Amino acid sequence: MRILESDRLILKPIEPEDLPYLMEQRWDADLTDYIIHNPISSYNQQKWYEKICQNGDVALSIFYKEKEGEKPVLLGAVGLYDINWRHQRATWKTLRIPKQYQGLGLAYEASKMLIEYGFYTLNLNKITSDIFPDNEGIIRVLAKLGFTEEGRLKDHYFHQGQFKDVVIYSLLRKDYKK
Ligand SMILES: CC(C)(COP(=O)(O)OP(=O)(O)OC[C@H]1O[C@@H](n2cnc3c(N)ncnc32)[C@H](O)[C@@H]1OP(=O)(O)O)[C@@H](O)C(=O)NCCC(=O)NCCS
Repeated sequence: MRILESDRLILKPIEPEDLPYLMEQRWDADLTDYIIHNPISSYNQQKWYEKICQNGDVALSIFYKEKEGEKPVLLGAVGLYDINWRHQRATWKTLRIPKQYQGLGLAYEASKMLIEYGFYTLNLNKITSDIFPDNEGIIRVLAKLGFTEEGRLKDHYFHQGQFKDVVIYSLLRKDYKK
């Protein structure tokens, strides 16, 4: 088994061949209700990829071992971004699970794997995430992992025709229960 592998999932750094799929996902209206996405070209996708590689972000593709003996399916990506080594914190974001794979516990499992890697391999002390307060799905995923609300920024984003608050969730390593 790999470092970031479970019975169902493999998480590994995004490779250039994953980019066309991940770009399509950023165009998928079903997945962008709670995520701010501008239409993105392959040029900009490439620039984004170069930036995350240069920044040292831990941006991982999520592969699902759907059928035994078959190639794992690329579901989406999740990552720890803006890593601050001095203060030992990072931001968790960009998780998207396609509709047909939702409800199987995959978002929770992938996030758990990443968070444990962040705390116990990267030695992070704190992981935060900015979430729209009506994104019940991801709030449930984060709550199951032990994230709690730390604060709210009012009218912070203009999204789908309205200004929306954003809630900052966080988890400290000392509060994480394996
Ligand atoms: C949010 C999202 C990642 C959840 O993915 P998922 O794989 O279906 O989630 P899981 O199956 O791991 O669910 C974990 C828990 O959250 C709950 N949950 C998931 N989606 C939910 C929803 N829309 N409303 C309420 N609860 C929800 C599940 O019931 C489960 O709780 P339980 O264990 O108590 O039953 C997925 O719906 C998605 O990709 N949404 C669009 C993109 C997005 O908003 N991403 C988050 C911003 S970065």
